[in-house]
Amino acid sequence: MNLFDTHTHLDAPQFDEDREETIRRAVENGVSRMINVGFNRETIPSTMKLAETHDFIYAAVGWHPQDAITMKEGDLEWIASLCSHEKVVAIGEIGLDYYWDTSPKDVQHRVLRQQIGLARELGMPIVIHNRDAHEDIVKILREEKASEVGGVMHSYSGSWETAKLCLNMGFHLSFGGPITFKNARQPKEVLAQVPMDRLLIETDSPYLTPHPFRGKRNESANVRLVAEAAAQIKGVEVEEIARITTQNALERFGIK
Ligand code: NI
Repeated sequence: MNLFDTHTHLDAPQFDEDREETIRRAVENGVSRMINVGFNRETIPSTMKLAETHDFIYAAVGWHPQDAITMKEGDLEWIASLCSHEKVVAIGEIGLDYYWDTSPKDVQHRVLRQQIGLARELGMPIVIHNRDAHEDIVKILREEKASEVGGVMHSYSGSWETAKLCLNMGFHLSFGGPITFKNARQPKEVLAQVPMDRLLIETDSPYLTPHPFRGKRNESANVRLVAEAAAQIKGVEVEEIARITTQNALERFGIK
């Protein structure tokens, strides 16, 4: 099995006691590559460190909507400079979060628009975080011409209607733990309809732990459970899901 966890946070404090062990466990479970996501002043440096010390860990760097108010002058240039690093494969996670609402909406919008602009300037794909902001996300992606670079709708949780709009703008859809939940009707229905060549899988660990480990810390090894659930929904073998989603990720993020 050759799995690619396209969204993980292995630098999170939840892994301080056993980070290397956790990474090894992922590799033992067939995870050949991972993208660690750094999303603010603290997690960008720790993400870069992980990417620099493990050849199979890549980095995405960007400013999270929850942290939008903490973005200062010079931070956009900081992200831009990191994008020339050979292990940085995307700008993200960026987007909108109306659930926690820790940054005012207008600030979230500005920070998102600036980063899409930067991604277009540098030709980098973007990783989109969207919580309860489906309409505004589509509107801003369209207005800022995000289709020029495309990217990933991470842990996709919207409707099939919104999914179609994202697919039309060239985005891939990534699914995680929620597709293993018994009561999660919508993500399963969307996954069933997503074209195979736009499908990605992820853990978003330490969050969104799949069944049957819900309530415990999530880790990248569990991307295997996500692949198994996706295989069941798509009606194919799990090896086929692993092969296709890994191929999609390598192509989308320009990894050889
Ligand atoms: Ni994340």
